[in-house]
Amino acid sequence: MEINEQLKRIKEEIDTFFSVAADEVDKFRLKYLGKKGIITCMFDDIRTIAPEQRKEFGKNVNDLKTQALSKIEQLNQIIENNKVQSIDALDLSRPANSIALGSRHPIAKVTHNICQAFEKIGFTVAEGPEIEDDWHNFESLNFPPEHPARDMQDTFFISENPDIVLRTHTSSIQVRVMENNHPPIRVICPGRVFRNEAITARAHCIFHQIEGLYIDKNVSFADMKQTLLYFVKEMFGSHVSIRLRPSYFPFTEPSAEMDISCDICGGKGCNLCKYSGWVEILGCGMVDPNVLENMNINPDEYSGFAFGMGIERITQQIYKTKDIRLFFENDIRFLSQFKAI
Ligand code: PHE
Repeated sequence: MEINEQLKRIKEEIDTFFSVAADEVDKFRLKYLGKKGIITCMFDDIRTIAPEQRKEFGKNVNDLKTQALSKIEQLNQIIENNKVQSIDALDLSRPANSIALGSRHPIAKVTHNICQAFEKIGFTVAEGPEIEDDWHNFESLNFPPEHPARDMQDTFFISENPDIVLRTHTSSIQVRVMENNHPPIRVICPGRVFRNEAITARAHCIFHQIEGLYIDKNVSFADMKQTLLYFVKEMFGSHVSIRLRPSYFPFTEPSAEMDISCDICGGKGCNLCKYSGWVEILGCGMVDPNVLENMNINPDEYSGFAFGMGIERITQQIYKTKDIRLFFENDIRFLSQFKAI
């Protein structure tokens, strides 16, 4: 290669070199200025250059050396500064950035509180699948095929198979508990349920229920009433009263719906209780003998009561939330209001 071209190429190499890794910079120094380095060797070559070109060549090699040395110095300076800066910037006494805490969802919180109230009087918690078959959701609970009571709950069916449904109530869990346990049975069953309903401020196609089931010898309607009264006082306070109205469910006989006195107006009447002074919170009744028979429990020996409540309804009553959709939107501005609970 022509000598000037070689000088030009080396000059460019030195110019474009950049690294702030100390060992890379040292490699660079050895490559050009070490004992056998490129520039060092060029000084040795001076002897072989034609005398009339020697002076210029010597000056060029000297310039390269200066250029390489200043490059090394410049890079070492950067390395040094970085070290100083990173040590300076490291303040071990500084408090760490705070980690934003999440909050428990109000539905989870209320579910927990309801379970706790019943656990205190000897109930245990049971769960079941959200995708159910017709037997567990309907038939075993005394809903015969084609029975109009099935229309009380607009059901989501799974694809082509009408035997598979999204459970419409947590009563399917009490069936599973009775299938697998002998009385006495005392369970509380929280879960998500699904109904094919239009989503509005008052209704949603997904919501949560808690089912209760108590089966033993000589269980009476009065036991049920007393248990539910205990629950209401535990949950809402001793000033709240209850009222039972006759109702109908295929799986309980007799059946009732239970209202609590409106905690917002104290029973005087407001728009939340639709000026009645009462808010409906659950359905209940004595387990129908047909259901016990379906579960191979002898109705002459055992009796029991069951109840089911909507958790959203109760949560709304406690926190005065008017729109049920808020529970499903996961808007942080809504959820963060429940931090303290
Ligand atoms: N499963 C009923 C519903 O979803 C509630 C209920 C449960 C009523 C247990 C009576 C007994 O409406």
